[in-house]
Amino acid sequence: MTGRKLSILPEILAYPNWRHRVHLGNGLYTMGYNTIENDWEFYGMPEEVKGKSVLDLGANDGYYSFKAEEKGASEVTAMDIYWGDGSTMLGGWPLEGITLLKTYLKSKVVIRPSSVYNIEELQQQWDIVLCNDLLSWLDDIPRALDAMSSVCLEKLIIHDTFSTSEIDADIQVRKIGIATLHRMQVEYLLNELRKRGFRNITVKQVFSFRHYAWQHENFLPAFSSVSVEIRDSPIEGKVIKTAEVNNTWVLQHLGEFVYLRGLGWAKRSDLHIQERKTSFWMRQLKKCIPDWVMALKYSKSDLESNSKELVITAIR
Ligand SMILES: C[S@@+](CC[C@H](N)C(=O)[O-])C[C@H]1O[C@@H](n2cnc3c(N)ncnc32)[C@H](O)[C@@H]1O
Repeated sequence: MTGRKLSILPEILAYPNWRHRVHLGNGLYTMGYNTIENDWEFYGMPEEVKGKSVLDLGANDGYYSFKAEEKGASEVTAMDIYWGDGSTMLGGWPLEGITLLKTYLKSKVVIRPSSVYNIEELQQQWDIVLCNDLLSWLDDIPRALDAMSSVCLEKLIIHDTFSTSEIDADIQVRKIGIATLHRMQVEYLLNELRKRGFRNITVKQVFSFRHYAWQHENFLPAFSSVSVEIRDSPIEGKVIKTAEVNNTWVLQHLGEFVYLRGLGWAKRSDLHIQERKTSFWMRQLKKCIPDWVMALKYSKSDLESNSKELVITAIR
């Protein structure tokens, strides 16, 4: 790793709001919890991004933006409401994560703090527009579709969760925990896309296991019988609190420390880290079976019933 990279590594390791696992080299990752290898291909993101301009809406920590750049996009813009603290999907996301990664990866991705509703103000258009896991969170889907269609020259890719209940309204509002989600009927969205000039539309079903059971296989659970010290960083970090650790996922190992999901860094020697009984077989299976077949096994574990996850590719 170069000197500049090393100098911001402690900040990357101290940042608590990672969503994705981005490889930093030498077996080290950002401490996110979305883990599928090659998830660009898995979720049907476009193969032919080489030489194209790409807009990534709701880019969050920039995972898909950096992937698009890596795959040869000529120019990538990452847009999100980068002004909140990351505590809710609608309150905005910190700018810090994507900015740290941009520096670390020596990326040219342009970061634009803005709401999807206001993209037209940028007076720019992009060949490919990515809209991953964003529409469901929005309370004005038609307005968002207007905005994203108007800046899309070629291809709009929408990856989201849709309603499977035929008696539902076109857009159904569901409360799940503290989140308010908007579940569309797929036919409704297809019509809305046709109305906005998209002629060639394909729909691919994918499986929404990534936040749930699949991840359990990737992260070992940690326990402690007494409160343990939690630090903000594994490199000369300060103790920020003490906490009970009960079935908390270990997202990263680094030297004598481990990163505990939602808590921070703790000394490995203070914890009991359990092997998962299925891990060995799961690892063997994963070696020989493609992700999408493995996903079938996990699709039943979705938190929501009456819903399915789709990737919709709409071409002008
Ligand atoms: C579930 S995350 C999806 C992140 C990423 N696209 C992915 O697939 O992993 C939803 C993201 O949408 C962002 N978001 C919510 N409302 C938005 C809006 N009005 N305009 C732009 N982004 C928004 C949130 O800040 C959050 O980063």
